[in-house]
Amino acid sequence: MARALIVFGSTTGNTETTAEQIGNVLSGKAIDVTIQDVAEVNPGDEADYDLVLYGCSTWGEDEIELQDDFIDYYESMERAAISGKGVGVFGCGDSSYTYFCGAVDAIEEKVKAVGGSLVAEGLKIDGEPDECEDEITAWAEAVAGAV
Ligand SMILES: Cc1cc2nc3c(=O)[nH]c(=O)nc-3n(C[C@H](O)[C@H](O)[C@H](O)COP(=O)(O)O)c2cc1C
Repeated sequence: MARALIVFGSTTGNTETTAEQIGNVLSGKAIDVTIQDVAEVNPGDEADYDLVLYGCSTWGEDEIELQDDFIDYYESMERAAISGKGVGVFGCGDSSYTYFCGAVDAIEEKVKAVGGSLVAEGLKIDGEPDECEDEITAWAEAVAGAV
């Protein structure tokens, strides 16, 4: 059975909810899913998984700021066990900001820099994830197809 790790950083719960929605879709595709708060993940923990999904919301005004808990992990991603592995990135944001879901772009760049292989274009949720279920399901089905 393929194994997927979903790592999220979420301040008000939106990206966490999105992680759970994605996890439900993957579980329905017979993928063994582990969902973890990024605060509890250390680089290297990804080694046992076939697919790694990162979820992170965006903060800041004039520049891109990752969700607080994600910053330490992001800065140590050179040691993440994702080289040659399928990776997807998602996050919640607000399109009224200059850098809509800029954290998704930043993490995607980092994934590429450390040798991970992006399996889908990043998922950027504008507003409440409960109102974007179709978009989230379609993205989760696409990444599930990569394992
Ligand atoms: C002070 C502040 C700054 C924000 N900056 C951005 C931003 O630059 N880009 C963006 O897309 N969303 C931005 N947002 C919106 C949040 O990312 C959005 O509310 C998101 O759903 C939070 O997700 P979370 O609950 O998973 O942390 C900002 C929100 C606040 C309150």
